[in-house]
Amino acid sequence: MNENEDSVELRYKDHVKQLKIIQGTDGNKAVDISNLKQETGFITYDPGYQNTSAYKSGISFVDGEKGILRYRGIPIEELATKSTFVETAYLLIYGNLPEKKELHTFSRHLNEYSLLHEDMVHFFHNIPQHAHPMATLSMMVNGLSIFYKDAFDLEGEFTGKEPLDITIARLISIIRTIAAFSYKKYKGEPFVYPRPDLKYCANFLNMMFSNPVNPYEIADEDVKLLNILLTVHADHEQNCSTSTVKLVGSSRVNLYASICSGICALWGPLHGGANQKVIEMLYNIKRDNLTIKDVLEKAKRKSEPYRLMGVGHRVYKTFDPRAKILKDICATRLTNDRRLDPYFEIALELEHSILKDDYFIERNLYPNVDFYSGLLYRSLGIPTNMFTVMFAIGRIPGWIAQWKEMRDSTSKIGRPRQVYVGNNLDHYVPLDLRGQK
Ligand code: SDX
Repeated sequence: MNENEDSVELRYKDHVKQLKIIQGTDGNKAVDISNLKQETGFITYDPGYQNTSAYKSGISFVDGEKGILRYRGIPIEELATKSTFVETAYLLIYGNLPEKKELHTFSRHLNEYSLLHEDMVHFFHNIPQHAHPMATLSMMVNGLSIFYKDAFDLEGEFTGKEPLDITIARLISIIRTIAAFSYKKYKGEPFVYPRPDLKYCANFLNMMFSNPVNPYEIADEDVKLLNILLTVHADHEQNCSTSTVKLVGSSRVNLYASICSGICALWGPLHGGANQKVIEMLYNIKRDNLTIKDVLEKAKRKSEPYRLMGVGHRVYKTFDPRAKILKDICATRLTNDRRLDPYFEIALELEHSILKDDYFIERNLYPNVDFYSGLLYRSLGIPTNMFTVMFAIGRIPGWIAQWKEMRDSTSKIGRPRQVYVGNNLDHYVPLDLRGQK
């Protein structure tokens, strides 16, 4: 392929096919194979879609070699330190940082649509106390489509039942209420309802930790930290859960069902579930008094399913910029009287050893966003089994933005192909003749 040409040549025996090159922003480019099957009879094979894009998108930009993440062109470092999660959510979904009037309307909608239908609140009374909060979250989010008719009904045509902007605000707002109520259910405490005088993150912390006998003091530094945590999780191009939301959404089902599918995909330990697994890994290292050397050796042994959770990434082949942001915050927040939190200390030792170990260096394995995030959720008092719920709260604007971008374009229903490797033509054998070959 010649760097300057706008196509590549595909040769097979005496056939030659020119394939167009699609030029994206910042050197992003792709070979357009959208007509490959009908023009050559060939499909492509790419397990895990490691080299395949199904969408053109203008929402997130990730440069895995340089450790860059931008939302709508703005570096994550700037948004994390200068913006808020609500502003960032608006930026991702609507394509621009909100002006004063836009921000006021968006914030008003987030407040107006923060209440869960009381009939849905009763669902909680029948959920077992030991239920994993991600199971509760996915069940409740899908249930929203029973109580709230979103802008797209089953036929996919706009029915005007509710403007999409209201559905979007409701999802971003109500996911906090559902998460906090699932925590209160687990604690056996009365539900604390959202307050109109509190902003997004402060409202969530109050719903989580306030109770009638122990009024919760909302600390500004906790609100600032939660804004940063949710902002760095808000979007990340076509990751597993986002791709799931878009694949489900491409069937023209309603937004609630599409988001519910993303919650289920995120729950997996290889994806958003990793933040919970990182803390459990750090706890086990401390409890069992394991040496870092033993842990790394175990993670390298192919015979063991054990992996270092929070390490490695499909796209980042250098530091995940989000991990850097969160590590710096850990360094200040998790140090008391110059003593490091013991789990943060273990995390630092692990990172230090990984960066010197050939196995990890050769495979470009670095800490990812999940490596430090759990330590910070823990410092806010959030229980370990809710860490992935926190990831979902952060990711919801990204899921919505990507779903909206897909639905606004003339996207086709997603339907990947396969390479069939099963039986050749065979025929039915009656029961009494089977096994008589
Ligand atoms: C997220 O895609 C996104 O953008 C996701 C995310 C987002 O914002 O949406 O960034 C969030 O999900 C972050 C990732 C969280 N998951 C983990 O931390 C789980 C641990 N990490 C891995 O299992 C793994 O690194 C993945 C799943 C993240 C990436 O897997 P890939 O790209 O499929 O790579 P792979 O499994 O093929 O691994 C390549 C090699 C293998 O060794 P070899 O076969 O070459 O000998 O690296 C090894 C793997 O065994 N390897 C690890 C490892 N991760 C990869 N070895 C030990 N420990 C690890 N953590």
